[in-house]
Amino acid sequence: MEWGMKNRLSKLIQSDGKAMFLPIDHGYFQGPTSKLEAPGKTIGPILPYADAIMLTRGILRACVDPAETKPIILRVSGGTSMARREELDHEGITTSVREAIRLNASAVSMSVFVGAPNEHQTLLNLSNLVNECEDYGIPVMAVTAVGTEIGKKDARYLALASRIAAELGARVVKTYYCEENFEKVIDGCPVPVVIAGGLKVDSEIEVFNWIHDSLQKGAIGVNLGRNIWQHEHPVAMAKAIRAVIHENATPKEALQVFQQVKSGKK
Ligand code: 5RP
Repeated sequence: MEWGMKNRLSKLIQSDGKAMFLPIDHGYFQGPTSKLEAPGKTIGPILPYADAIMLTRGILRACVDPAETKPIILRVSGGTSMARREELDHEGITTSVREAIRLNASAVSMSVFVGAPNEHQTLLNLSNLVNECEDYGIPVMAVTAVGTEIGKKDARYLALASRIAAELGARVVKTYYCEENFEKVIDGCPVPVVIAGGLKVDSEIEVFNWIHDSLQKGAIGVNLGRNIWQHEHPVAMAKAIRAVIHENATPKEALQVFQQVKSGKK
């Protein structure tokens, strides 16, 4: 691997081999998502606990201080909106590699929609982006998006999408956690895998369980947003999740961290 590629990846994946990415890119098709209406305010208190932040160029320019040193994962796909839910998979590449370099991105990310009508186009988007980014030593993180097909989140589907993303050259794959056979997703994917959280759930321990179990099965960490910043206590969630990822905390220990931070004891 070239020095530049290695250097960028080492900013994202920490020396313990783990990673906690904080995505706030949801507005690129959802608009002003709940608790992300003012992204700069939302991330202020939680950013110190993340290893990198994932967002679009517009939010980066408008809401993040250029003096910020946290590594940037730049979302470079889009072109769709919730107003046409049935076409969420119809994405193109929205941001040039030149722009990613100008914004000092440590990686770029884009979505592939395996099994959707526009599967072919999104897979070619990934391949073309990898072709360009490899020239400049920029890692591509492929987001295995499910669009409205949320029910397809079983191991067989996730393994298929993750493996294809790796085959086409993604350096990191973001997928979803599934309770059954998640190890099959990891075992079939030769590049590091991070999991997203999806819609906010009501139970904190459920989130810690997903993350803990996925790490046990070989994931390297998370690219997890709503279950942190839509939570009533985002800092407590961020610190607890960080403990699971970087301090080997069990879900029970993470819950203690959460409760201590929530009650101001930590
Ligand atoms: C949205 C994304 C998000 O970055 C990803 O889904 C992670 O966020 P969350 O944990 O909120 O699902 O790619 O398109």
